[in-house]
Amino acid sequence: MSLTICNVRFSQQEDRVVYVSGALLKQLKLTGKKRIQLKFGKEVATAAIRPLRREGKHFYMSVGLRNAMRVPKSGHVFIQSTDEDEVQIGPLIGVLTDGTQSATTPFGSRTGYVRELLKIGENKAYFFAFTPRDINWQTERVNGYFWSANGGWTRRTVPLPDVVYNRLPSRKAETSSHIASLRERFIRKNIPFFNWSFFNKSDVYKLLDGDLEGNRHLPESIANPSADKIKELLEKHQFVYYKPTAGSLGSGIYRLTYNPKRGYFARYRRGGSNVLLRFTSFNSLMRMLQGRHGPALSRYVIQQGVRLVEIDGCPIDFRFHMHKNGKNEWIAVGIGAKKAGRGSVTTHIKNGGSLMTPELALGRAFGDKADEVLEEAKKAAIRLSEAIERNYPHTLGELGLDLGIDKDGEVWMFEANAKPGRSIFKHPSLKAQGRASMEFILEHCLYLSRFRRRDA
Ligand SMILES: Nc1ncnc2c1ncn2[C@@H]1O[C@H](COP(=O)(O)OP(=O)(O)O)[C@@H](O)[C@H]1O
Ligand SMILES: [Mg+2]
Repeated sequence: MSLTICNVRFSQQEDRVVYVSGALLKQLKLTGKKRIQLKFGKEVATAAIRPLRREGKHFYMSVGLRNAMRVPKSGHVFIQSTDEDEVQIGPLIGVLTDGTQSATTPFGSRTGYVRELLKIGENKAYFFAFTPRDINWQTERVNGYFWSANGGWTRRTVPLPDVVYNRLPSRKAETSSHIASLRERFIRKNIPFFNWSFFNKSDVYKLLDGDLEGNRHLPESIANPSADKIKELLEKHQFVYYKPTAGSLGSGIYRLTYNPKRGYFARYRRGGSNVLLRFTSFNSLMRMLQGRHGPALSRYVIQQGVRLVEIDGCPIDFRFHMHKNGKNEWIAVGIGAKKAGRGSVTTHIKNGGSLMTPELALGRAFGDKADEVLEEAKKAAIRLSEAIERNYPHTLGELGLDLGIDKDGEVWMFEANAKPGRSIFKHPSLKAQGRASMEFILEHCLYLSRFRRRDA
């Protein structure tokens, strides 16, 4: 096995031949060989191999071979050889997403992110984006979107990729049988596919339930609780969160509190403002919730409330953006601290929250102890990611953990997102972490597609 980076170019011959420079022949241990099996994505072809007198690591493909294999462009990519005279160029990485498919913004509001990601792969890999409609399973081809060096999107038909990074945007579409069978087909073809789908809160809580390492960071949670259970948890903790299992951005969330003398309180967001209601009886609280949501309450979870550390009298919590690296290990790549807006149930920016660096937030909450608290929180985030992965049947490469820290520095997880948003990276001090996050996607794709980086 030998791996390096080479310069792929094209020559005019019609027959299937590659011209390989001396340095590259030597590195790939192909000196004196007459034929190779060339792999690109899931495409394989036999090619004659001829030496080329040129300095550097050059790999010229005849146009006949290029067309047969659907190699989209020239430039620097990884190349590796096996002992069986197999040579592979790539990796061919597909980002699965969706959108309007207009010429300039094919992926709607996600276009900017997809473009930045593909640019990270320039001169290293064949990185493209595609939608579910762009796959032809009969011909095993994908009509991908490539970002060209001179700017602009170009369509190129390529083989099935070596690995798929799933950023399908719609929770609803993702539960369709069409998307389910698409995923199964990739798996059947041994194409690593991550992440599998959006998470539901209660599924993640259940995953961690029996896991000692994970469970210690999880507030007590019950899916689809009966009224009696809600009452029981309220009496036990005085303070609970009641939230939709498939919710996001804080919508539909209630913060419920119980005070034996004063009754029950519900805090939530309604039409852009924060509401606080008081109920003298538990039944009247339940009637309000039933009235607002009806049968949808069966898709709610109840969760012990965590007393978060505060600054300026407002609770703060954290987004830990986790990635797997090129060695398949979890790393806390980006961390944002969020301070809740006054009276808000959640820390979301759109509900009046504000974003800051974890150093600033923890410095104000913990003084000299801030560094230590942050280090412990990073370790907890890694333990949690490992625990989720350990109990999850599919491949995971990226997670957005919503973590709280209490006054004792204990770390609590509120939810794990399998398609984490990137809003924390808009903070001027977190821009470098945003770039690192994209580099880790590439790194991990190299790992999953078995193009492991060594020093070229
Ligand atoms: N059990 C809890 N204790 C304290 N705060 C919580 C709890 N659950 C949620 N929150 C607060 O509400 C926010 C949103 O909750 P989360 O579970 O992440 O739902 P969403 O999917 O809407 O983002 C959290 O970031 C945190 O600020
Ligand atoms: Mg959240």
